[in-house]
Amino acid sequence: MARSALLNVMVQAVKKAGRGLARDFGEVENLQVSLKGPGDFVSAADRRADKVLIETLSRARPGYGFLTEESGEIPGSDTTHRWIVDPLDGTTNYLHGIPIFSVSLALERDGQIVAGVIYNPILDELYVAERGAGAYLNDRRLRVSARRDLSNSVIAGGLGKLSTDARVRFVRENTFAITEAAGLRVNGSAASDLAWVASGRLDGYWQHGLSPWDMAAGLIIVAEAGGLVSDAQGRQAMMQTGSVVAGGAPIHRKILDAIRKAGAVVAD
Ligand code: 2AM
Ligand code: CA
Repeated sequence: MARSALLNVMVQAVKKAGRGLARDFGEVENLQVSLKGPGDFVSAADRRADKVLIETLSRARPGYGFLTEESGEIPGSDTTHRWIVDPLDGTTNYLHGIPIFSVSLALERDGQIVAGVIYNPILDELYVAERGAGAYLNDRRLRVSARRDLSNSVIAGGLGKLSTDARVRFVRENTFAITEAAGLRVNGSAASDLAWVASGRLDGYWQHGLSPWDMAAGLIIVAEAGGLVSDAQGRQAMMQTGSVVAGGAPIHRKILDAIRKAGAVVAD
């Protein structure tokens, strides 16, 4: 697969940041048994990955702005382009030595996401998508699952910040997945979940309380793999509401119905 110049820039950046995270992950595993734990070390690893991404992308595309989980909003001289960056999505997993985490990078042009890249450096899985050009895992074209019934579908849900509405909603809404689906997974990395929906491993996914950097790259990767993504009411306000429902069309519909039945939809 021949990659565009833009995707090459993005891939180079996430791979560089990912290599650093993978190196540090080995140390995190050693620190599990220490009294102090790996908390401070992980925060430093997260910041280092953020810095690598900002430096690499700024060199390749001077003037583009940033929205990153670690550094917040960094305005650029080019007001049409903005990178949306999560240097380490799945921080709790990383902290616990669980290898489900990703670097997530998207490019927004005039407020629309035009490209996304998600990289898990432990599995060495690179998911890429550019608007209108399909989605790929490494060099394989992706297609979301075609399953229609919950009974043979694996659904992932997400839990955000402790004791927020998002967690309460998860408890209310997850009954359908527990009682009707083949399996419920809570993987702890929104970016990885969306990448896995795109590759068909997961048949569907829903989560509330997310930030733009958790979802930006995943949204375009799922869409380019032929999946549907929406907020909890089926609208396209995912980045504004923080809610995401994703999957192939039939399962996406079933998750939306389940959310509605759970009576949890208030504002989004
Ligand atoms: P993070 O690992 O970068 O914090 C966990 O279910 C998923 O929700 C992760 O993708 C996590 O991103 C994301 N998330 C978003 N906001 C969160 C919060 N306030 N607390 C914990 N996880 C959060
Ligand atoms: Ca995140």
